[in-house]
Order: sequence, then C-alpha cells, then structure tokens
Amino acid sequence: MSSSLLIALVSLLLPCLLSLLLLHLSTVLDPDPDAAAPRVKKAPPLPLRFRHDGTFKILQVADMHFGNGAATRCRDVGPDGGGALCSDLNTTRFLRRLIEAEKPDLIAFTGDNIFGTSATDAAESLLKAISPAMEFKHLKFSFIGQKNLYAPALAFFHIPIPEVRELWYTGFKGQYQEGVACSTVNSGVLGTLVSMGDVKAVFLGHDHLNDFCGSLNGIWFCYGGGFGYHGYGRPHWPRRARVIYSGLKKGQRSWSEVKSIRTWKVLDDEKLSKIDEQVLWRCSTDDSHRNAFYPRQGV
Ligand SMILES: *[C@@H]1O[C@H](CO)[C@@H](O)[C@H](O)[C@H]1NC(C)=O
Repeated sequence: MSSSLLIALVSLLLPCLLSLLLLHLSTVLDPDPDAAAPRVKKAPPLPLRFRHDGTFKILQVADMHFGNGAATRCRDVGPDGGGALCSDLNTTRFLRRLIEAEKPDLIAFTGDNIFGTSATDAAESLLKAISPAMEFKHLKFSFIGQKNLYAPALAFFHIPIPEVRELWYTGFKGQYQEGVACSTVNSGVLGTLVSMGDVKAVFLGHDHLNDFCGSLNGIWFCYGGGFGYHGYGRPHWPRRARVIYSGLKKGQRSWSEVKSIRTWKVLDDEKLSKIDEQVLWRCSTDDSHRNAFYPRQGV
C-alpha cells in the first residue's frame, strides 16, 4: 500500500481524532544538487527532499468530503455554480488544477477526505478523491522520520485545539467566519507543542469557513479552508487550499539550513487566485533579513 493511501486511510478511519502529521523540515534538508527535477523515491520511509533550487512546497487539502463522484451534488454553491452539473468532480478538478499550478512536493490531506454517509463504498470514494494526486508520480505523501537536528517542524491536525478560539481577540490573518469546533476538553496539546520547541506552525481543518492564521505562544495555527464541494461552504466564497513553502539558505558550497517558511491560500476561481501570503517563520541567523532590518549592525 502506498504511503499516500495510508495517510488518507488513517484520516478516514479516525475522522474526528487528531490525525497528526508532524513534519520535521530537517528530514527534507537534503537537496539533491544534480537532480533536474524532484527526485522520485518509491519505497517508504521517504526521505523528503528539498528541490534542487532549495525549496519545498506542501499543499494542504482540508475537508474534501468526497462522496461517489459525478452523482454527488455540491452543497452551498451559488446559482451560477452549475446546478446539477456541480458534483464531486468539481472537487477533483480543483485538486488537479492546483497540483498542476503549484507543483507541490507533498500533499497533506488533513482529514474528512470523504463524506462517510454519502459514500456507498468508502475505500472507492477515497481512491477517487485522491486520484488526481496519484496521477503525479513525483508527489509524496508521508509520515515523517525523526532526526535530532534543530530545524523548524510543522504539524498537521484535523481538529483545532481549544486555544484557537482566543485568536478572535488577539488577531489573525484571513477569515474567521464560524465558531472554532474543537473538543470541550483541553488535553494540553498547546503546552506539548510549545515544549517540543521546534514546532513553528500547525495546520488545521474541520471548520470549512475559517481560513485564518494566528499565533499562539509563538506557534502559528493556520486553517486550510474548506476544499470539497460536497462539504458545507458558503456561496460565492470560493473553495480553497493552503500552500506552505519553505526555502533553504545557501551556504558556502551547499544548502545550509531552512531560511523561511511562507504560506498563502489558493482559491478555486478562474485564475486560482493566491491570497493572504505571509511569513510564518524566518531563520534568526538569516543575514539578508538581519541586514535589511539592522543595516548598521552588519555581520
Ligand atoms: C462545477 O463544474 C461544472 C461543470 O464543469 C461547472 O459548470 C460549474 O460552474 C462548477 N461549479 C463550481 C461551483 O465551480
């Protein structure tokens, strides 16, 4: 079984539990300088690699809610949304267009990939849902190995943690359009993430109408925004996905460390509009950054 399928299955079997994918960027700190294109490594465990240009791009796909395909109708689209022509295939088309346009190295499906009560055959629904991703052979989907090198880490959850609610008062970028639906019990996840020290950002799903990012105790929490057309949404508020983009710093002879992590969202509109770009993390020893802000202290 491919690891992509495995991830999707995990989120299928545990739709309401934290399906956690922790990505240590140190494991991707291994670019292949000779590669003309992203290297394909078939057998898991997958050492994720930065591209030859020192970048690594993740596509977060939250809440596809796939049913049976062409027969499964869209929810909450406007009167210009295609009527009976609007189906799960719109979700499929969005995923394919995104992969073609953004060319991610990894896709994180953060849960509710299928809509259990609508899908007559869950496994088949899941395969259909992720089929555009399977067509692109260079794409990887993986649980992550551990290394003890210091490097920023990213985590992927389905359900937000309770503290995300506080961002309403403290600030966020993006849209906060519905209540944060999280467990009523606070199991201390935030404290755990903070104590890990290297987790810089957590990517969430579950609340389709939220797509904001906000910072809690030095860790960013970012929603992907609802992706699938059979899941609830809001007419004239395009379905969307989040991109996470990381770049390496160039050392003397090779790439040295992770330089920055940026994110933005892509809308399923005609132009695949890119919105709300922001920097989530920047290496504190990044000279270009330091010089830009403290020119007289130059190092
Ligand atoms: C869904 O796809 C149909 C058929 O291509 C199209 O007519 C319709 O506009 C799409 N709906 C949305 C909301 O994108």
